[in-house]
Amino acid sequence: MARITASVYTSHVPAVGAALDLGKTGEAYWQPVFKGYEFSKQWEQEQKPDVIFLVFNDHATAFSLDFIPTFAIGTAAEFIPADEGWGPRPVPKVIGHPKLAAHIAQSVIQDDFDLTIVNKMDVDHGLTVPLSLMFGQPQAWPCPVIPFAVNVVQYPVPSGRRCFMLGKAVRKAIYSYDEPLNVQVWGTGGMSHQLQGPRAGLINKEFDTKFLDRLIDDPEGLAGMPHIDYVREAGSEGIELVMWLIARGAMGDTDGGKKPTVRHRFYHVPASNTAVGHLILENN
Ligand code: DHB
Ligand code: FE
Repeated sequence: MARITASVYTSHVPAVGAALDLGKTGEAYWQPVFKGYEFSKQWEQEQKPDVIFLVFNDHATAFSLDFIPTFAIGTAAEFIPADEGWGPRPVPKVIGHPKLAAHIAQSVIQDDFDLTIVNKMDVDHGLTVPLSLMFGQPQAWPCPVIPFAVNVVQYPVPSGRRCFMLGKAVRKAIYSYDEPLNVQVWGTGGMSHQLQGPRAGLINKEFDTKFLDRLIDDPEGLAGMPHIDYVREAGSEGIELVMWLIARGAMGDTDGGKKPTVRHRFYHVPASNTAVGHLILENN
């Protein structure tokens, strides 16, 4: 059967993608950001995942205000990098895993989560920037990716608790798939940032540090944190962090297993308007 070997958590700052694409990674401003992912790129080469279940948010790119799915699973054979206004990023197209995605949809919907099934979707920086950070600039992404989009753009957005429980359902789905696949689950977005209004530019290092601590040691308690605390403490776009709870809910200790091992932890400010946070947890 398939198994989840690790979860990966990372910010998705669009300017990081631009820095990579425009060859600016060596600049003094960007160097410390990319340094935080050197270990991760090496680690991925050793891990050789077969599939990545990638939890991300669309930024009104594939989904306009015409319709807003709370949770959407990408079941297509491929996903094209989106044009977000200045042309698509020069990165490989994303190859999907329709069979595993359909299996997860079947299992998770039967477990009472309402997923929207998406057979065509362009993927924006929310998905491609984490891939770039973890894999660099290859000709093709090293494995298939199942995009899983969460609405954190237009209220009402799902609670941390709902996301955590969904992660457990995703875990159950993957472990009931009858093929020996090495699956990673990624939670992306965050950390603290606010892009508009009088508080634009807000960063809360203390909150971010505590969020990382609790994500590791007390995910169940962290899942109980209400939206208003994210918005107040981490800024309006800090709400993207609820997506990390889906990946955390998919780890073994939520299902009677051992605590995961922290393989890598990184935090850096500034990167554009947000704090960059990054964590790798391995299942035991
Ligand atoms: C920035 C961060 C985001 O998460 C995003 O979606 C867009 C912009 C920023 O830091 O500039
Ligand atoms: Fe974002």
